[in-house]
Amino acid sequence: MCGIIGYIGPERASGILLKGLKSLEYRGYDSAGMAVIDSGRIICKKGAGKVEEINKKVDFPSIEGNIGIAHNRWATHGKVNDVNAHPHLDCSGNIAVVHNGIIENFEELKKELKGHSFKSETDSEVIAHLIEEEMKDLPFDKAFIKAISKLKGSYAVLAIEAKSNKVMAARKGSPLVVGVSSDAFFFSSDIPSFIDWTKKVIYLHDYDVVEAGKEIKIYNLKDGFVSRPIDSVEWKAEQIKKDGFEHYMLKEIVEQSDTIRRAIQQKRELVERIAKQLKEARGVFLIGCGSSYHACLTGSYLFSKVAKMHVNPVLASEFKNYKHFLKKESMIIAISQSGETADVLEAVRAAKEKQSKIISIVNRAASSLTRESHESLLMNAGPELSVLSTKTYTSQVALMAMLAYTIAGRYDEGMAKLKKLYMDIYNLTSRNMRDRLRALAKRLLNEEHIYVLGRSLQYPTALEAALKIKEVSYIHAEAFAGGELKHGPLALIKKGSPVIVFVSKDDKDIIANANEVKTRGAYVIGVSHKNYDIFDYWIKTPESEELGPILQIIPIQILAYQLAVLKGLDPDRPRNLAKSVTVK
Ligand code: G6P
Repeated sequence: MCGIIGYIGPERASGILLKGLKSLEYRGYDSAGMAVIDSGRIICKKGAGKVEEINKKVDFPSIEGNIGIAHNRWATHGKVNDVNAHPHLDCSGNIAVVHNGIIENFEELKKELKGHSFKSETDSEVIAHLIEEEMKDLPFDKAFIKAISKLKGSYAVLAIEAKSNKVMAARKGSPLVVGVSSDAFFFSSDIPSFIDWTKKVIYLHDYDVVEAGKEIKIYNLKDGFVSRPIDSVEWKAEQIKKDGFEHYMLKEIVEQSDTIRRAIQQKRELVERIAKQLKEARGVFLIGCGSSYHACLTGSYLFSKVAKMHVNPVLASEFKNYKHFLKKESMIIAISQSGETADVLEAVRAAKEKQSKIISIVNRAASSLTRESHESLLMNAGPELSVLSTKTYTSQVALMAMLAYTIAGRYDEGMAKLKKLYMDIYNLTSRNMRDRLRALAKRLLNEEHIYVLGRSLQYPTALEAALKIKEVSYIHAEAFAGGELKHGPLALIKKGSPVIVFVSKDDKDIIANANEVKTRGAYVIGVSHKNYDIFDYWIKTPESEELGPILQIIPIQILAYQLAVLKGLDPDRPRNLAKSVTVK
């Protein structure tokens, strides 16, 4: 949902900002641009398209100057075109602004800014004009603070002014971190964009406003001047490189044998404490969006089967319909890779108003969600840079399983089973497996529809498989619970329709469903530990009961990846999508 980056220091800003733009491209790739102060003037270059394409046209590195800001856009207000790309300038061209979020009152503000001429259809442009208006009476830094205090909605904003040697920044609801090196400051929506320069970061809080020149000052709109600690990031620069893989998506799929081990490296005491609270809670809700919601759904089956406990999986965006059930004794488990998803944060805040307890399962340690939670379990998966969730999905399911086993008093057994997954995942992601699935992808390449069936724990796996296929290959994929087949979906099956069937050990009912589609001419792709006669194609996965969902999704992640690559699509950046959905 848009990425922003800023730099002030001794080096030429454009090179650093361009590198940052490339690393933040997963957050939005409709348009990009940068503005730099060069000899008391703002030089702004921007356009629609991917960073590399725009760079070829405008030559970002040719811009001189040491203070600048840049932006990757994922459009919310206004179509994708050069004018709507950020940075946005004021009327004089002396103030440049980049923004991630949504300014809810931009129309009212625009009406108040009489005499200003607006060029774009965006909500963000209003910020540049607001600062310009305030600068009639105030210096840039004070004008920025006054302008920011008038904004409603969510924002991470960076601004520069031609004659002021500083970067001003502010955040509320959208992520923004500051990188601190011995002689420079970096601002970014996400750490990977500056990790080559520094691993020291300041995590900003909502309503923080930052003035960075030779030094940094942080002012909170509610609390006045504040000091925020400088933390060290553990990520290595190599973790955010592709490591010889063509795409992040494949790298992250292959990493899963390792990330699953890291996910379960939790303090036993913490896991047991959370398990105890879950047992004692009156009403447990699992909430998430996208793949994280599918992990919630899988979690609900695991809690039921392993821990014999009822929990309610709810899409975060639908949670408001359930909030009247919340009480002080209710518990929320919020699952989110980024910890910044707007719907998840809104649901959590609604639950907090009812004083319910919030536990989060997150990958980003210093996210808004971890701050809003009473306790957090970290996935420890390292940066996930492909828009599609792969390694963090399996980590989420592993953590759900770990909690379910702990609630059932079977912590050691659960851990032993989870630890054993490492080798199975290693084999499932081997080159041989990837080549076989590429061959299957060639067979499916021109299909318009792919159907996916599963029952019980394999039903959320089917939903996740369909999501992976559709979002990366643009082939329509739809999942059904096996039992629902005869209630409608069977009508869609015709000769040659590809149907992926997830089979768990000894599930005769799903084999009956596979037979039903086969009889109507379907091409049946079985994902199973055992080969059944009705399979036209067999994807062999290890025999596993409760942990089957972790293993069985992996070949379909690879299949989806191969479909995208064979179609010439960029699997890391599917059209219209963004990694972190920070707007509602
Ligand atoms: C986006 C991403 C998905 C992700 C979902 C939830 O749609 O493309 O991969 O599952 O957001 O994100 P979260 O960070 O909350 O897990």
